[in-house]
Amino acid sequence: MKPVTYRSAKQWLRTICVAAVTLVVLLTAGLLAATQAPPTLKDAFKGSFLVGAALDEAQFTEADARSAALVKAQFNAISPENVLKWEVVHPEPDRYNFGPADSYVAFGEKNHMFILGHTLVWHHQTPAWVFQDDQGHPVDRDTLLKRMRDHIQTVVGRYKGRVNGWDVVNEVLADDGTLRPTPWLTIIGEDYIAKAFEFAHEADPQAQLYFNEFSLENEAKRNGAVALIKKLKAQGVPVTAVGLQGHYRMDWPSLEQLDATIGAFEQLGVKVMITELDLDVLPAATQYSGADISLNLPLQAKLNPYANGLPDSVQTALAKRYADLFGVFLKHRGNLTRVNFWGVDDAQSWLNNWPVVGRTNYPLLFDRNGQPKPAFDAVIQTAASAGK
Ligand code: XIL
Repeated sequence: MKPVTYRSAKQWLRTICVAAVTLVVLLTAGLLAATQAPPTLKDAFKGSFLVGAALDEAQFTEADARSAALVKAQFNAISPENVLKWEVVHPEPDRYNFGPADSYVAFGEKNHMFILGHTLVWHHQTPAWVFQDDQGHPVDRDTLLKRMRDHIQTVVGRYKGRVNGWDVVNEVLADDGTLRPTPWLTIIGEDYIAKAFEFAHEADPQAQLYFNEFSLENEAKRNGAVALIKKLKAQGVPVTAVGLQGHYRMDWPSLEQLDATIGAFEQLGVKVMITELDLDVLPAATQYSGADISLNLPLQAKLNPYANGLPDSVQTALAKRYADLFGVFLKHRGNLTRVNFWGVDDAQSWLNNWPVVGRTNYPLLFDRNGQPKPAFDAVIQTAASAGK
């Protein structure tokens, strides 16, 4: 072995110095790049809750490349806007249509996202044959229970270990907090809800299972939900979380109503999620304040005031309202585990066509060109000032 001479020691020292300087330069450049990178929703709320969006087919197949890129950059959770609803995934008694749902799940897996299944048991977007026999008469309890179980086993079973959480039941309550009179209730009876959860749990014991509903911020409906969840928990029914759909307006719900609602479910020991967040800025077309998708009211000019653009004053009010809502969500971080928007940008939103077809609405954080709105900045700012 060659002795270490004075000369080779000097060379070594020089090499080490050069390496150290290079490292410092690289680290500083990295740090600068990181501080200058545009903020994202998923990073802003990391450690508090997941931030998700409902995707349509053009987004998860990446046919709409711009929107798909926005989804990948901003969100770490996804829900399927329509492709896992019964009428799409199981249109006929002996025919399942898994193509679209398969690409939805593949998109989520490829991008390491939390993948939602929406929804197993609902009275809307469910074909009439589900509840009828060959003559069009209502089926009996056992037949409907068997159809429900087969459907849940087939759909949940196919995505076992891949879809992370399911909206097991959707909108089972009426506005007064009693059970909504749907064919599920009329034919099977009250235990259809518990059965749906049991079948889903059987099909994928690891999956989170949710009770999804709108307008629980209103006291009567919330009280009904609290009583029902208590009962289900006491029976050992595996309910992981209550999903508040979050189809909100500028003046509803109040922050107190929202805070009290999240709090009420926290107290029952279930998680809470905001599952379908959007903010309707257009004039109310009806006194009715729920999110029943069967509403269809006539289009009138006075109901569509921002067809040519959103005035700055409304843009600012929307940003403030979003910041306020996220303030309440952050207060409950830990128990509130996901905030999911119903859509990615304003062009995609169902609120352009509900409860009136053909309006121009502005309910989300990204505009019709996929650009962040002042509401986006306000939400990011809310995270920053909450130390999150
Ligand atoms: C909506 C979709 O966004 C529309 O594309 C579809 O035509 C109707 O359903 N509550 C829910 C969602 O649970 O499934 C609904 O989604 C919106 C209201």
